[in-house]
Amino acid sequence: MIALATHLPEDIDCNCNNRRLVAEQGGAVPALPFVVIDYDTQQFPFAYLLSRDVFKVAQLNNLHNYVKAHRQHLGVKLDQLSVKDNLLFREMMQSLADNSPFFQLYRYFMTKVITPLVGQSLSYSAHPKMRVHFPGTTSVSSFHHDIIVTKRIDQVNLWMPMVDLSETATLWLESDYGKEDYQPIALKYGQALIFDGGFLGHGSKFNDTDTTRISFDLRFSLKGAKTRSDGVNLMDLIVNNSKIG
Ligand SMILES: [Fe+2]
Repeated sequence: MIALATHLPEDIDCNCNNRRLVAEQGGAVPALPFVVIDYDTQQFPFAYLLSRDVFKVAQLNNLHNYVKAHRQHLGVKLDQLSVKDNLLFREMMQSLADNSPFFQLYRYFMTKVITPLVGQSLSYSAHPKMRVHFPGTTSVSSFHHDIIVTKRIDQVNLWMPMVDLSETATLWLESDYGKEDYQPIALKYGQALIFDGGFLGHGSKFNDTDTTRISFDLRFSLKGAKTRSDGVNLMDLIVNNSKIG
């Protein structure tokens, strides 16, 4: 395998708008840029905990209607939810205590599901980034490559929906590096998307569905990883081992 530089070349380390150039200068790529894995929601009841501990509603995908009904009950004349509401409700999840059942379950999931797929120790954050995307609101993040912001060439992304998602309620990915042919990734609760988000373009759109997206995501790497080769190796391990599993 070609040893790649630890740091990004100067012309990537910029607010570079030429995404095809970003993709090309990533160098070696994994066999597949993304993969979907399944997990047992009985063993890892993320949505149940969010319903019980945060939102107190029976159907998370219908959260927008619960919120509207609640506001109507309070006499608030507001038909449309906004990006501000996305952030407000996201914060309700993000502010869970470190020792909350949800964050404990997340770490258990990383230990029991993701780490065995790789077979090596991993580095990942104690809390993932939580997202709420209500119907009728603009994109959570426009199309981008994570390395532009993170400068981390050794990481891959994990993206997990807490409800079934498709079309403009879900994440959109390009099919291959630099193609810019963004398509929605239809995922069900109980599936997780692992993708090379540093170099593979991704983002979301105006949610014109009738589904509230609730999801969380994070980036992770092999412990001690520094190079792009480490990131490529990590993605290859996941793709190969998820096929076996
Ligand atoms: Fe991203």
